[in-house]
Amino acid sequence: MCGIFGCLSNNDNIALLMLKGLKRLEYRGYDSCGMAFLDNHVINVKKDVGEIDRVNDKVNFLELKGHLGIAHTRWSTTGKVTKQNSHPHQSCDGNISIVHNGIIENYEEIKQVLTVIGHKFVSNTDSEVIAHYFEEKLKNKSINEACIDFIKEIKGTFAILLLKQDEDKIYALKRDSPLAVGICKDKNILASDIHAFSNLTNKAIFFDNDEFGIITKDSYELFNKDGKAIEKLIKSFEWKEEETGKKKYKHFMMKEIEEEPKVVDRLLRSLDYEQKNDFGKLIELIKKSKKIIFAACGTSYHASLLGAYYLHKIGVEVQTLIASEFKHYANVDKDTLVIAISQSGETMDVIDALNYAKEKNAKIVSLVNVPYSTIQRMSELSLNILAGQEISVASTKAFVNQTVLLLRIAQEFGYGVNLKNLSAKLKNLFQQKEKIRKIAKKISQSNDAYIIGRGLTYPVAREIALKIKEISYIHAEGMMGGELKHGTLALIDDGTPVISLISNSDEDIISNTREVEARGADITIITNNPTFKEQENVIYVNTGNDGKFGLLAATAGQLLAYHIADVLGRPIDKPKNLSKSISVR
Ligand code: F6R
Repeated sequence: MCGIFGCLSNNDNIALLMLKGLKRLEYRGYDSCGMAFLDNHVINVKKDVGEIDRVNDKVNFLELKGHLGIAHTRWSTTGKVTKQNSHPHQSCDGNISIVHNGIIENYEEIKQVLTVIGHKFVSNTDSEVIAHYFEEKLKNKSINEACIDFIKEIKGTFAILLLKQDEDKIYALKRDSPLAVGICKDKNILASDIHAFSNLTNKAIFFDNDEFGIITKDSYELFNKDGKAIEKLIKSFEWKEEETGKKKYKHFMMKEIEEEPKVVDRLLRSLDYEQKNDFGKLIELIKKSKKIIFAACGTSYHASLLGAYYLHKIGVEVQTLIASEFKHYANVDKDTLVIAISQSGETMDVIDALNYAKEKNAKIVSLVNVPYSTIQRMSELSLNILAGQEISVASTKAFVNQTVLLLRIAQEFGYGVNLKNLSAKLKNLFQQKEKIRKIAKKISQSNDAYIIGRGLTYPVAREIALKIKEISYIHAEGMMGGELKHGTLALIDDGTPVISLISNSDEDIISNTREVEARGADITIITNNPTFKEQENVIYVNTGNDGKFGLLAATAGQLLAYHIADVLGRPIDKPKNLSKSISVR
């Protein structure tokens, strides 16, 4: 949440580079944005409310001059969406400018102390205290001493970039929120994640918790919380970037759904070659562990539910927990293997769950999309799902590849599924777009929708409901068909949309479908059962294998959710109140 970006370059005109870099982080938050540039010992700031392009139209970031700047794109936590609350924030004297991703928990206490000694605050944010804190400390301390004090005295999470009017440097501090330095030939870039600079370099160093650094255009020094200099290894990363831009697509979400066949093949190939060793190690670890627990959130949790289904079918006991509840429900010890599943690799709830598991000496492995992300770096072993950059906030191709990896794992234990033709089957599904759009138009007129599944399709029902909710803003509930009669049936009226996921000829879900139909529900069926194939309200998924059906039904649901949201004219790639990387609790 919130993206921060900084650049120090040989080149005197970095405004365009800053703008492009910040745009690459926009999926982290888009409530407001801003930039501060240092030009001839003067800090110039431009900021406003709205998405980056809109703000740029208004303030023209390209007018900013200088070879050194910091920038921010905000996902609001403390303080409403206003210009005053946008970053960068300034000290009273204007000599210091900061951008921050995270939450300063004890900001009220600090603000009170600073106010008493004369500091004037212009925003309601927690972040603004950072600029005033440093202004005050620097009256009688060096910047290194101020950073040491900050790390000691501040409660909460932070990735901070700080500019001082009199220095050609960016100061950076980090705890829990991600921060990396991209090393380029003629410049250094600081950013929340490697995607911000992966088009410019494949070399980076990563800040660890409670470290701070001093960065110039051709050097970087990092220090631990006691101010001791530390050596950092430069990591080379490979980050699959699909063709940039939306191309022919109206939204990134559709582009990313249509990339699914390609990324599935890429992952399967890599598990046979580049990642073969690590994949083998993961299988061994699963075999050796007495207990296996998946930890994940949102869409990634739904993939883990599918994984649990596949593994249970062949007798491998696994439990899956929503990461934010992990410590309340998991019984973890040294014989436990915790498998974190995360697209971003930065989800705070998952990180918390892993820290809890580590304290109990459990083994940690992960399946992630973003290389060198915090979760990957916390893991003893980590597999890349290789979905490539997902720009749309709603996860689609990453969900597919998480599930494919889980299917591959299940296959190793004897689960029968042919994955070789999966990408062809996905392409086949895309041909039904017209029919799906017609169904979507109908559903878009309702305020509520219910999606029902059983067994294999229960996780899919939840995932489709999540997709509908987050991008169309229609209330949707994904549930077990069997649970309807225990309460929810009371909500079914004439015309209530119910999407039923029917795997083969599962009689139980067929009965549940009849039950809601009898109460007037408007039924849509997603099925691999050819007897339903020709019906108008049916999205037919041509696959006999029920394990694969779960995955393909989820993609059908992605398409349906996309079209519902598109008919309603929603901002599909940037739904309100959401962000791609959830680094708050
Ligand atoms: C929904 C979505 C979210 C994420 C969740 C976990 O489309 O993308 O529900 O799945 O926030 O994020 P990761 O996978 O990055 O840990």
